[in-house]
Amino acid sequence: MDIKKMNQLYEGKAKKVFATSDPSYYIVEYKDDATAFNGVKRGTIAGKGVINNKMSNLMFQLLEKNGVKTHYVEQLSDRETVVKAVKIVPLEIIIRNVAAGSFSKRYGVEEGRQLKNPTLEFSLKDDALNDPLINDSHILALDIVSEPELDAIRKLAYKVNDVLKEFFAGVGVKLIDFKIEAGRLPDGTIILADEISPDTCRFWDAKTNEKLDKDRFRRDLGNVEEAYNEMFRRITNA
Ligand code: TMP
Repeated sequence: MDIKKMNQLYEGKAKKVFATSDPSYYIVEYKDDATAFNGVKRGTIAGKGVINNKMSNLMFQLLEKNGVKTHYVEQLSDRETVVKAVKIVPLEIIIRNVAAGSFSKRYGVEEGRQLKNPTLEFSLKDDALNDPLINDSHILALDIVSEPELDAIRKLAYKVNDVLKEFFAGVGVKLIDFKIEAGRLPDGTIILADEISPDTCRFWDAKTNEKLDKDRFRRDLGNVEEAYNEMFRRITNA
């Protein structure tokens, strides 16, 4: 793809976003930086940027094959990918299949309890406010998205869950929960954006329940790089 990387538009905790010579596209660059608890805990996970870039791209391609529109265009290098230029909807869209993390804490439910049905929750993407939970009524009242857009986001999230849950089951991994983000194309279409990686999903080994995701970093469990490598090995052998 004949596209030039231009000025940096944004630097997040795990990625940088660059403008390109074509206004329809951005280039994202994945870093090894890791943070948790809204940036309070900081560190580096060696090689994470490469794994998250490649894994996200594989997941986006799998989702596209299954009819989900994503921002993925083309991988440029180990850490860089061309994506469609979207405006990110400021919501963290979280699906949970099994209780863990903040859900377990908030509702006093043991981690690992299978939920009767997948749940969907939203947080407002706002670091200064610590990403507070937000409900559908609030989202509409604040005009963050319209009602049809909210419907589209809900459908997108459950579809992503169906596709990913099945895929990961095939490589011996339980998809406990995950966070996705949606973006708006200039014509208003809502598509899947951001990333799908061990930073943004909880993955447990199907047999042992060993954690194979960023919780190893968040909770100082050790073998952080090994977990990312193991996830990458499984999906590329799939
Ligand atoms: P939680 O249980 O801490 O709310 O996390 C739910 C899921 O969302 C989990 O898979 C990790 C992911 N996540 C992010 O991707 N970014 C975040 O900032 C947080 C808090 C969670």
